[in-house]
Amino acid sequence: MELSEAMDKRYSVRDYQDRVVSEETIRDIIEAARLAPSAANRQEWRFVVVRDEEKRAQLAKAAHNQAFVAQAPVVIAACAVTDGHKMACGQLSYPIDVAIALEHVALAATAAGLGTCWIGAFDENAAKKILAVPEDVRVIELMPLGYPADKPRPKTRLPLDEILMWENWRD
Ligand SMILES: Cc1cc2nc3c(=O)[nH]c(=O)nc-3n(C[C@H](O)[C@H](O)[C@H](O)COP(=O)(O)O)c2cc1C
Repeated sequence: MELSEAMDKRYSVRDYQDRVVSEETIRDIIEAARLAPSAANRQEWRFVVVRDEEKRAQLAKAAHNQAFVAQAPVVIAACAVTDGHKMACGQLSYPIDVAIALEHVALAATAAGLGTCWIGAFDENAAKKILAVPEDVRVIELMPLGYPADKPRPKTRLPLDEILMWENWRD
């Protein structure tokens, strides 16, 4: 699948088939994350892949009871091992780097016929407890992964001319 097609086809999947995702497929998808760029090539990302049903149920609860998080056969917890490094521009590098890698995951999953959904509405401390994540490691996002049972919706996005400026900021 062309990259542009994967970007077009990716959508937030909130209903999943009861169908196993093979370990090989999961490894291929995380490999896409491994290839992502990161500030000073720090690669602070780590991925905890959760297939255990009870843990998925606990993660769904930690994710403000978003039931589809448990319905998906796999949940990826995207984590960061970080010393809080900031780039010269003043931004923390780890949330940006983990986000880039996780979108690689989402696009690679789409190309493999799978669906994902970014999950930012969750209790980080609860997720850490469930997954035995050390105190100094951050859990940045959760991402259910599985074969979609729902259908894509039309994308609602701002028009290109509203987000694109040439040479200078314009109001
Ligand atoms: C950082 C981030 C956090 C998100 N958190 C949630 C979430 O907790 N629950 C949810 O159902 N969708 C969540 N979403 C999905 C967005 O609602 C969705 O991407 C957006 O509405 C655009 O729809 P689309 O992904 O289908 O194109 C999140 C997306 C991002 C990028």
